[in-house]
Amino acid sequence: MTLIIAMDGPSGSGKSSAAKGVARALGYRYLDTGAMYRAITWWMLEQGVDVEDAAAVAARAGEVRIQVSTDPDAPGIAVGDLDVSGPIRSRAVTAAVSAVSRVPEVRQVLVALQRDIMADGSIVAEGRDIGTVVAPEAPVKVFLTASEEARALRRAKEIADPAVSVEATLADQARRDKLDSTRTASPLTKADDAVEIDSTELGLDEVIDTVVRLVKERV
Ligand code: C5P
Repeated sequence: MTLIIAMDGPSGSGKSSAAKGVARALGYRYLDTGAMYRAITWWMLEQGVDVEDAAAVAARAGEVRIQVSTDPDAPGIAVGDLDVSGPIRSRAVTAAVSAVSRVPEVRQVLVALQRDIMADGSIVAEGRDIGTVVAPEAPVKVFLTASEEARALRRAKEIADPAVSVEATLADQARRDKLDSTRTASPLTKADDAVEIDSTELGLDEVIDTVVRLVKERV
């Protein structure tokens, strides 16, 4: 039986590390849907598309060829034959991704691809709309949160660039969360049947253990 574990939440909530850890613990595959929105954004910027122009983004959304590795120990993403795992984390992509991901045609293309990938075997999928839109049938849904400060601190650590202050990270994160939560198409929101885990005071292993326990209870 193919099982989907949905892990949604805002940026910096620790979703990626937790979702990879859960996938490893269960022997499941891992899907980072945020990386897919970042990859399409990277491609739009490369093509010179004005990402604030929703109609221009919509017109090109069907052209992108994205390939994803679902190995939690070697996650990666390519556009065409080019590995873009590094470039999709750039500040330019991070600043533009919410504008691109609010476009319904972009979401249509990526959700179809995500469902195809999920159909291939059990998987832990992380994002913003897995439990609500992509896989509402998932038997386990987690909504991972943390205080704004804890999330910005984690992001700043990940970025590890002394030129980028925690304050700047906090401002960028607040802007992105607001755009992601208030857009019309699949806004970031907790599914009614999701279990909320606040990771502010929890270590990574505690979050992973909590989710693994939930999966073992339910499936
Ligand atoms: O998870 P990450 O921060 O890499 O996601 C980047 C962006 O991709 C988010 O800010 C959001 O705009 C978009 N996203 C989305 N739906 C998802 C995953 C990510 O709209 N399922």
